Amino acid sequence: MQRLLSLFPFPLLALNQSTPLCRCLYGDACWPTTSDFSSLQSQISRPLIYPIPTASACYPLSSPSENCTDIQTNWHNGTWRAGHPGSMDSTNYESFISRNGSISACYVNTTLGVPCEQGNVPVIGVDARSVSDVQAAVKFAASHNLRVAIKNTGHDFTGRSAARNSFMIWTHHLNNITLNPTFVPEGAPAMETYDAITIGSGVIWNDAYNAVAAQGRMLIGGISAGGSVGAAGGWLQGGGHSAFSPLHGLGVDNVIEIKLVTAAGEYLTANAHQHSDLFWALRGGGGGTWGVLTSVTYQTHPTFPVTTVFFNATATNTTVIKKLFTEFVRIHPALSTASFGGYAIATSTSLNFLYSLPNGTDARANASFDSFFGLARSLAVEGLEIATQETGTYDSFNQWFQSIFQTIPTDGGIVELASRLLPTVLFAEDEYEAFADKLFTVAGYQIIWNFVAGGAVSKVDPDSTGLNPAWRESLVEAIWGVRWNEGATYSEIERMRAWLAATMEQVSAIMPGAGSYFNEVRHETGSLFEPTPKETYFGSHYDRLKEIKDEYDPNGLFIVGAGVGSDEWVDDLNCRRSD
Ligand SMILES: Cc1cc2nc3c(=O)[nH]c(=O)nc-3n(C[C@H](O)[C@H](O)[C@H](O)COP(=O)(O)OP(=O)(O)OC[C@H]3O[C@@H](n4cnc5c(N)ncnc54)[C@H](O)[C@@H]3O)c2cc1C
Ligand SMILES: *[C@@H]1O[C@H](CO)[C@@H](O)[C@H](O)[C@H]1NC(C)=O
Ligand SMILES: *[C@@H]1O[C@H](CO)[C@@H](O)[C@H](O)[C@H]1NC(C)=O
Ligand SMILES: *[C@@H]1O[C@H](CO)[C@@H](O)[C@H](O)[C@H]1NC(C)=O
Ligand SMILES: *[C@@H]1O[C@H](CO)[C@@H](O)[C@H](O)[C@H]1NC(C)=O
Ligand SMILES: *[C@@H]1O[C@H](CO)[C@@H](O)[C@H](O)[C@H]1NC(C)=O
Ligand SMILES: *[C@@H]1O[C@H](CO)[C@@H](O)[C@H](O)[C@H]1NC(C)=O
Ligand SMILES: *[C@@H]1O[C@H](CO)[C@@H](O)[C@H](O)[C@H]1NC(C)=O
Ligand SMILES: *[C@@H]1O[C@H](CO)[C@@H](O)[C@H](O)[C@H]1NC(C)=O
Ligand SMILES: *[C@@H]1O[C@H](CO)[C@@H](O)[C@H](O)[C@H]1NC(C)=O
Repeated sequence: MQRLLSLFPFPLLALNQSTPLCRCLYGDACWPTTSDFSSLQSQISRPLIYPIPTASACYPLSSPSENCTDIQTNWHNGTWRAGHPGSMDSTNYESFISRNGSISACYVNTTLGVPCEQGNVPVIGVDARSVSDVQAAVKFAASHNLRVAIKNTGHDFTGRSAARNSFMIWTHHLNNITLNPTFVPEGAPAMETYDAITIGSGVIWNDAYNAVAAQGRMLIGGISAGGSVGAAGGWLQGGGHSAFSPLHGLGVDNVIEIKLVTAAGEYLTANAHQHSDLFWALRGGGGGTWGVLTSVTYQTHPTFPVTTVFFNATATNTTVIKKLFTEFVRIHPALSTASFGGYAIATSTSLNFLYSLPNGTDARANASFDSFFGLARSLAVEGLEIATQETGTYDSFNQWFQSIFQTIPTDGGIVELASRLLPTVLFAEDEYEAFADKLFTVAGYQIIWNFVAGGAVSKVDPDSTGLNPAWRESLVEAIWGVRWNEGATYSEIERMRAWLAATMEQVSAIMPGAGSYFNEVRHETGSLFEPTPKETYFGSHYDRLKEIKDEYDPNGLFIVGAGVGSDEWVDDLNCRRSD
């Protein structure tokens, strides 16, 4: 080694200087000076922002600001949270939970008497309003070796839009919407046209749905209270599912063109004709990894009437719920053939679902659940109570969405999740019973059940996008997780995490090699919970994704938890692995 050093002293030295091992964080000596930030300020259109944790206005306890009431009122409102740069949807990601047991947080529950701290919330950032704002922000972050957090709505379930002592690029105000019934992708032949919508990367689903509804169209997007999930950020890049994905595919199957600023500060158009390798990677390779998206173009579809079946039954005896759940699992291949999609929640004492049929009728919808409803009725003698069994027909997709999903939102909770894409083969006649039984038991009798795959999702060539190929062979995405209250101690949190890790291992044993949805997972640097994260989140596409990552972001400016290339980083993804 000594000899090598003396042979090549200069290049080694230069390498050390140009690519330091660790990021420059707020508080470090290398952090940009006031004059550096003034120079950035002169290149951007809006004042630099200083994000703060959501509950900050309720502190200090001796003199909270008048805004504290506003915060308490809107705490669970995802749309409101998206409008605040320091707000993360799962509030635990505003907190910094250190492995040494210390917690830096800002609780809305002021009764706890814990002082408000910055936690994981980035300390400064750019409120981007234009492509050139994004370019200035990216170049500044790259030249100062900063840890970057790209934040859209902050809905990420693993806190990837926050990072302690980092620099934020906030896309919320990139909210242009343009409709074009004869959209031609850049570089495409003139006859390749789409009925399309182009949205800035800060647009949320509710606004995109309303925009196309005015033209009698619909599009595939996230389905949640208030429609507050971002339509052109993490949702899309992670895959993007909808109750109507079985009809028209996932988000990645509906996107036509993506515009972004790369790590080099270049503004590029990625589509099937230009930068098609990057376009492939952006469709499933995960948010916060490839550059900063500034706008996205989706194809739209003609709208259709929707028939929905609402069901909720309860029983104090878990065995009874398990019988009903098993029958529910059994009918999924038939529901898939009939074009249903939707959402269910199974707990030890209830089974609740909302399943929808495009172009359906009440009679056809009921017929698909004949055997299931029959079993539910017969389980009455064993204590099953049917709280809800209704159908509803809506004139259009947007009427369906607006009628059902403008309810009281439930965002702003503390949650860590695990997810598995349930392979279609496990729903087969000779498999489903054992599968349903084991899954329900090991996931602790609390499963969020997203019936968002199969159908059109499974008809797409698995290699046509960078998305985990497991999506194409699965029918349902199952999610389960843990919650704790503000003020929980580190050891209480660790106990929850240990339970989650153990259940993940048990669920994996039921379906060895099954994939997971990148957007609805729990990860840790070092992957305590996913022993093989590359395979689980990206499957056989990982190596190609990594090649594309190295081409467009060779210095790893954009790194997020469990994302492509993240295994090369340690210490909360702030330092390059040195071994
Ligand atoms: C209430 C709720 C409902 C949900 N419903 C659904 C659903 O129906 N279907 C579904 O598939 N998922 C759903 N999800 C999961 C959702 O897909 C993820 O939370 C996703 O990460 C949200 O993306 P975002 O851009 O809104 O959020 P953010 O947290 O702001 O961003 C998520 C990730 O994408 C990156 N990112 C954001 N914007 C950009 C950009 N412009 N350029 C580059 N990277 C960017 C961020 O850095 C981060 O890594 C839901 C989540 C919540 C909280
Ligand atoms: C209260 O909120 C408003 C709107 O977000 C903001 O302009 C104002 O500065 C806040 N006031 C305080 C005291 O934080
Ligand atoms: C949520 O917040 C948004 C933005 O502030 C507001 O428009 C909406 O009315 C709120 N929704 C509810 C249910 O309070
Ligand atoms: C724990 O870690 C945090 C940050 O990583 C540090 O600020 C704190 O001093 C540490 N506390 C102890 C008790 O070591
Ligand atoms: C707030 O914290 C106090 C003290 O631990 C607890 O008694 C109370 O139930 C909490 N309130 C809420 C709304 O969680
Ligand atoms: C948004 O639209 C306006 C008007 O068409 C245009 O001037 C502006 O450049 C657009 N902004 C972005 C970020 O595309
Ligand atoms: C299902 O019904 C029970 C009993 O009415 C209720 O407590 C529960 O909240 C319902 N579940 C859902 C998800 O609506
Ligand atoms: C629960 O139901 C099962 C049959 O479904 C029955 O065998 C069992 O005895 C019941 N348990 C209780 C506690 O009632
Ligand atoms: C719904 O039915 C209409 C009329 O038959 C048909 O044109 C349309 O393609 C159908 N849409 C879907 C999504 O099935
Ligand atoms: C469908 O079932 C619901 C109850 O589940 C019932 O109210 C409705 O009348 C049924 N509709 C048809 C057309 O069968």
